[in-house]
Formats: sequence, C-alpha cells, structure tokens
Amino acid sequence: MTAPPITSLSAQVDPSAASPSVGVRQGWQLPGLAGRICRALGPDLLVEDLYSEHGSRLYHELTAADTAEIGQLVRLLGDVTGPVLELACGSGRLTLPLVAAGHDVTGVDSSAELLRILAGRLAEPTAARLRGTVALVEADVLALPLNRRYQAVVLGATSVRLLDGAQRRELFSAVHDLLLPGGRFVVSTARSTDEAGAGSADQGQHGPDIVVTTALADSVVTLIQHLLGDGRRRITAFHVPTGAPPRLFTSAVHPVPPDVLQAELTAAGLRVTATVSVPLPSHLGLGDDVLMVAEAPS
Ligand SMILES: C[S@@+](CC[C@H](N)C(=O)[O-])C[C@H]1O[C@@H](n2cnc3c(N)ncnc32)[C@H](O)[C@@H]1O
Repeated sequence: MTAPPITSLSAQVDPSAASPSVGVRQGWQLPGLAGRICRALGPDLLVEDLYSEHGSRLYHELTAADTAEIGQLVRLLGDVTGPVLELACGSGRLTLPLVAAGHDVTGVDSSAELLRILAGRLAEPTAARLRGTVALVEADVLALPLNRRYQAVVLGATSVRLLDGAQRRELFSAVHDLLLPGGRFVVSTARSTDEAGAGSADQGQHGPDIVVTTALADSVVTLIQHLLGDGRRRITAFHVPTGAPPRLFTSAVHPVPPDVLQAELTAAGLRVTATVSVPLPSHLGLGDDVLMVAEAPS
C-alpha cells in the first residue's frame, strides 16, 4: 500500500483541543508531582500538550505495542462490510488491524504528526498485506464533514474522555447523523475513574498521584496521573531523552463511567446493544476499559 495523502481540515481544528504548547506558566500550575517537576526545573522546561508534535511522537512510542481493545474491536466489526470512520485514530494502533481485517477506513485525528506516522506505517512493505483501504483526514472530531455515511464509527482508546459533557453531546449527535440506518458506533471508556489505580496511588509527599516510570529505547518517561477534585484526571508524561532537553507533556481526561456513556448515547438516539470488558495490564493501575456498541435506528 502506498502512503495515503492526508486531507487537512485543520482550519477547523479547535486550538483548545490540540494546543501545541501549554506554556511554562500553566506548567507551574499543574497539580501534584507534575507541578513540582515544573517548579524544580524552572522556565527552561518545555511544557506542551500531550498531542503536540513532540508529544505525538512520544505517545506513538509509548503505545505502538499496546494491543488493548484490538481483538474485541475487530470481532465487534466482524460482519461490517461498509465504510468505517475511525475518530481520533492517532498513529493507527487500531486502524491498522481494522484495515488488515479488510475494512475500508477513514481515519480522523487532529494531530498532523500522528497522521504522518500512520501514513508512514501504511507505506512500509509489511502494509502490502492489508486488505482494506485507508483515507486520512486531519480534523477536529467536533467539526466533521457530514457529506458521507458510514456503516460503523469507532472511537477507541477511551478517547471519549478527552471531551467534556457538552462536547460529547455534540459528537454523539454528529455520529448519529454520520451512521447509515442500523449502523454501529463502537466507543470505549474506562470502567471507573475513581477505582482506577486504587491501591497504587501515592498519597504521600506528592498527593494523589499514580506514578509509573518506563525506560524506552533512548529515553526514560515518567507517567503521572493526578486525580483532580472535580473527577477529572490530569495525565502528564515527563520525558527525559538521551542528549536532548527534558519535556513535559500533559492532557486532562473527564470521567465518563459506562452508565453515563450509555445514558448519553441513548439520549443521542442510539440504542446500546452490547458492552464488552477489556482487561488492561494490572501493573499500570488503570483498571479495565469497556467497549460499548450502540446502533443507529434502521
Ligand atoms: C488516546 S489517543 C488514541 C489514539 C489511537 N486511537 C490509539 O488507539 O492509540 C487520543 C487521540 O485523540 C486525538 N485527539 C485529541 N483531541 C482531538 C480532537 N478534538 N479531534 C480529533 N482528534 C483528537 C489525539 O491527537 C490522539 O491521537
């Protein structure tokens, strides 16, 4: 497969959804351990959104080998023969297995860098075996063109948690309009944000932070989850590459427990037909994911 071109609708990307630079002042205001790192390293520390250009590269390196949701998702779309729209497709962790299974996928993401990585993966010799087709679109999921209908829409990796309640209402209404009659929306969320990580939280000097440090090929990254008072989580990655300055990447996720997600999908006119559990590696202290299937009226 040759690398597909990336269609850019980036003028429509909401800058607050994918802000390239968080800025050092906001860095100092980060809660818990992340804020302490910012204050300790001072104004030289680069602080950016998790899905900025550099953040996207780190995100890809961190998640490329993660197989969570893939088997379940491919099974849930097993009988889908029409076009599939994958929202927030990133560097293709879920896209590539869907295309390998023979689906024609349109992948949408607001990160130009993650889409470039995905296009590069599609141009690798191993991608010649892929049976389906791929189109890539750089756009905000809240500004999707509504000129095509899909048999399935996918929003995996619990990315629904990047949106607040009003944004989810807007997105689910758009998904309703994007689906063919009887079409399927498959969306994942975390089972419970409050229980996630219970037992591994560091309640000591850094407050309620869950901290996991991982060595990558040429760098070390410390992932910090901080539970905010309003139920949101602040996710921060402190990245220390060999021979380059450290950077801190950050993003916030909203709590969207399965019962809330089900109620919101129902309110958008979609009928929830299945809920599938996705176990995650226990050492990450992240709890389980849930994949929910909701159908458009036929
Ligand atoms: C948790 S990652 C999931 C990526 C990929 N689906 C995976 O499984 O690895 C969230 C993705 O959402 C994208 N994203 C964040 N906000 C977005 C928005 N408003 N519109 C489109 N994509 C967005 C990010 O660039 C990132 O690729």
